[in-house]
Amino acid sequence: MDHTVYLDHAATTPTDPRVVEAMLPFFTERFGNANSLYALGRDAASALEDARERVARAIGAARADEAVFTSGGTESDNAALIGLATAGGRNRGHLIVSSFEHHAILAPAEWLGKHGFQVSEVAPRTDGVVHPEDLASAMRDDTVLVSVMHGNNEIGTLMPVAELAKVAHDRGALFHTDAAQTAGKVPFDVEALGVDAASFSGHKIYGPKGTGALYLRRGVRMAPYLMGGGQESKRRSGTSNVAGAVGFATALELMLAEQADEMPRLTALRDHAIDAVLARVPYARVNAAEARDRLPHIVNFTIPGAEGEAMLLHLDAAGIAVSTGSACSSGSLKPSHVLLAIGCPVELAHGSLRISLGRSTTQDDIDYFIDRLVPVVERLRSMNPLYDKTVAAL
Ligand SMILES: Cc1ncc(COP(=O)(O)O)c(C=O)c1O
Repeated sequence: MDHTVYLDHAATTPTDPRVVEAMLPFFTERFGNANSLYALGRDAASALEDARERVARAIGAARADEAVFTSGGTESDNAALIGLATAGGRNRGHLIVSSFEHHAILAPAEWLGKHGFQVSEVAPRTDGVVHPEDLASAMRDDTVLVSVMHGNNEIGTLMPVAELAKVAHDRGALFHTDAAQTAGKVPFDVEALGVDAASFSGHKIYGPKGTGALYLRRGVRMAPYLMGGGQESKRRSGTSNVAGAVGFATALELMLAEQADEMPRLTALRDHAIDAVLARVPYARVNAAEARDRLPHIVNFTIPGAEGEAMLLHLDAAGIAVSTGSACSSGSLKPSHVLLAIGCPVELAHGSLRISLGRSTTQDDIDYFIDRLVPVVERLRSMNPLYDKTVAAL
C-alpha cells in the first residue's frame, strides 16, 4: 500500500529494529535451551536472567524473580485470575473485576464463575474511571481477588490503581492490574502502586508479538497455569523463549528512555485530533472526556449517525487504519462492552471510532485522517435515513 496512516497502535505496534537486533543472536548462534547445563544452555540462562532483571527494574519490582515471562497480555491475565483465585487448591470465594476489562480478564472471570467462585463486576462511572468508593461497596468478607485495569484500551482512561489496591488490601484481598496498555507509555511502578500482580504485553510497546510478563509480588501464591518442565520457578512451564524475553526487556527499556519526550508529544497530537474532530464533525463527542487522567495515545470518538465499521472501511480505502472498539477481537458487530459500561447508549456505541497514536504518528497523519474523516461522515450520514432522528434525540 503506498500511503498508510497507522492510527491503531493500541491494537499492535511494529517491532522496533533495535529490538529485533537485540533478539537476533538468540535465534541462531545463541540458541541454547536455558535449562541445559552445558555452556550453550548456561549462556541462554544468563541472557534470560539478565532480561528478567531489566524487566523487573523497568516495572519497579523489588526482586527480579517477581517477573514471570509469558506469551503476552492474554496469558498473563488468564494466569493471574485463575492462578491467584485457585492458589492452594481453593475452589470457592468471591472475585471482583471491573465491567470494562479486556476479555482476557472477563472470560476467565466468567469461567471461574462457572467453577465454584462468585464473581461481581464493578462498573466504571461515565467518566470512564472505576472509583475506589464503588469498589469498596462491592467488597465482601470472602473477596479473595480484585482485578481492575490500569488503563482502558478503548477509551484511554487511567484508573487510580494505588487507591483501588488499598481498598482490596484493607479487606484482605489480592489486587491484580492489567497494564498491557500502560507500562512503558506512562509511569508505572508496581511498588508505588502496591499491586500484587500485573500483566504486560510486548507487542503493544514495539516488542515482538507473543511476548510479555506477569509480575507476581514475592510471597503471593499462584497455581501454575502451564505445567510441565517447571520453568519460571514452576510458575510457567515451557522451554524459555529467550529471544522473546530479550526483545520484551529491550522494548520496555526503550519505552522508558523515550517516555519523557513521547508523552507530551503524543498528548499534543491527541489533543489536536480532538479539537479538529470536535470542530469539523458536527455532534461528535469524546467518550469519557471528563476523565482527568488519561493515556496520551488513545482517544475514542462517538460520531452519531455514522456507523463505526462503515467509517473504518471507508478510511481503510483511503489508507488509514483505525479501530471501532466494537468488533476488534471477534469480528462481531456487537457494540463495545466498554462504551456500554460507561453508559453510552447502544445506538451511539455503534458510531464509535478509536484512534491510537504511536512513535510514527505525525501531525500530518492526524490532519490527513481528519481531512478524510469529514467527507466520510457526511456521506454516511446523508445515506442514513435515521440521521435526523438520531441527532434530534441527542
Ligand atoms: C488491556 C489489554 N489487556 C490484554 C490484552 C491482550 O494482550 P495480548 O495481545 O498480548 O495477548 C490487550 C490487547 O489488546 C489489552 O489491550
